[in-house]
Amino acid sequence: MKFNDLNKQYQAYRPEIDAAIQSVIDSASFIHGKEIQLLEEKLADFTGVKHALACSSGTDALLLSLMTLDVQPGDEVICPAFSFIAPASMVSFYKAHPVFVDVSPIDFNIDIHKIEAKITPRTKGIIAVSLYGQCADFEAINQIAKKHGLWVIEDGAQSFGATYHGQRSCSLTDLATTSFFPAKPLGCYGDGGAIFTNNDEWAGKVKILRSHGQEQRYKHKLIGINGRMDTLQAAILQVKLKNFEKEIKTRQQAAALYSSLLNNQVLLPEVADGRESTWAQFTIMIENRDQIREKLAEKGIPTALHYPVILPKQEAFRDEILSNERFEVADLLSETVLSLPIHGFISKEEIEFVSDALIGLLEDQPHGDAEKN
Ligand SMILES: Cc1ncc(COP(=O)(O)O)c(C=O)c1O
Repeated sequence: MKFNDLNKQYQAYRPEIDAAIQSVIDSASFIHGKEIQLLEEKLADFTGVKHALACSSGTDALLLSLMTLDVQPGDEVICPAFSFIAPASMVSFYKAHPVFVDVSPIDFNIDIHKIEAKITPRTKGIIAVSLYGQCADFEAINQIAKKHGLWVIEDGAQSFGATYHGQRSCSLTDLATTSFFPAKPLGCYGDGGAIFTNNDEWAGKVKILRSHGQEQRYKHKLIGINGRMDTLQAAILQVKLKNFEKEIKTRQQAAALYSSLLNNQVLLPEVADGRESTWAQFTIMIENRDQIREKLAEKGIPTALHYPVILPKQEAFRDEILSNERFEVADLLSETVLSLPIHGFISKEEIEFVSDALIGLLEDQPHGDAEKN
C-alpha cells in the first residue's frame, strides 16, 4: 500500500499525459510555452478568480506574494503556529517577522479568537494556511484584517479545490497561493505553484517579479526572481485538472468511510458547516502515536506526521519567539497527529484494511479508551 499512489494516477491518465509531455518536447518551448497561459486560464476559471499566475513552487508563490505586497524588513505578519514551514519561513526570508498564533482545536486552522491579541502597529498582514484541505475561517479572518487595515493571504497549498460557503479555496482573500508539489491534491511532476488575485495591479506585478523583474526582455523594472513554472508542468497539470473534481470526490468519499469506520475511536479535525475539504491529508489524533505508527508500518501501512514539531519550536525561528509564549493546541497536535493513506485512487478495501488495523491496535492499548470522544 502507498501513502499517496501517484503511479496509479499516472496509469489512469497515461495516454493523455504522455501526449501532453511529447507535445511540449516537440514544440521545444520549455519556458514560456503556450501551455502556461492555457493553464492559467483554466485555473482562473476553476477558482473563479480574475488572475491565476503559474509559478515555480508553492514556496515561491508565497515569496512573490510578499514581494508584491511590498513587505518591508521589520514588518510583522501573523502566521499559524502549526503548519508546514513555508509561509512563516518566507516571511523571515524576506527579513520580516512571522508572529505565531495558536491553532483551533476544532479545525486545526489558525484560531480566529487569538489573532487580534497578536496585532501590533507593525503588523502588515495575515497568512492563514488552509490545513489538510479545509479552508480556514476566512469570513472572520477578513473581518479582523479589515478592522486593522491588514492584507490577507490564503496559503491554499493543501486546500486547492476545497470550497468555503460555495466559493473555491484561493478565491477568498486579497492574494492566495497554492502548490502543485506532486503529492498535493492537484500535483505536477516536479515543482510548481500558483498565485491568485482579483487585483489587476498586483497580477501585473507578480508577472514581472516572477521573471527577474523584467517587463520587456532585458529591461528590468524591479528586483525579482526566477519564479517561472516550466511548460511541461503546465501541460501535465491541464490533464490532471480535467479529472480533478472526480479525484476530490474520491478523497471525500474515502474520508467519509474512514470517519464512519473509525467512529468514536479517534479524534479528527471537524469540517465546519459550509466548508468542503479536499482531504489533502486524513489526519487523526491518537495517544501513543509513535508506537501505533510503528505497528502500522509493521503491517505494511505507511503513515506520515503533519507535523511533529510546531513552528515556534523550530530552531530556525529561535530569534522570533518570546520565551514565555505557549501554543498549547499546536503542541498537543504535534504530539498526537497521524496522517493515514489517502489519495484520489484509494480503494474501499484499502481504507477498511487501515481502519481495521488501527482499531485493533487501539483496542490492544492499556488505555485504549482515552481517545474516545
Ligand atoms: C501549507 C503549505 N504551504 C506551502 C508549501 C510549499 O509548497 P512547495 O513545496 O510547492 O514549495 C507547502 C508544501 O508542502 C504547504 O503544505
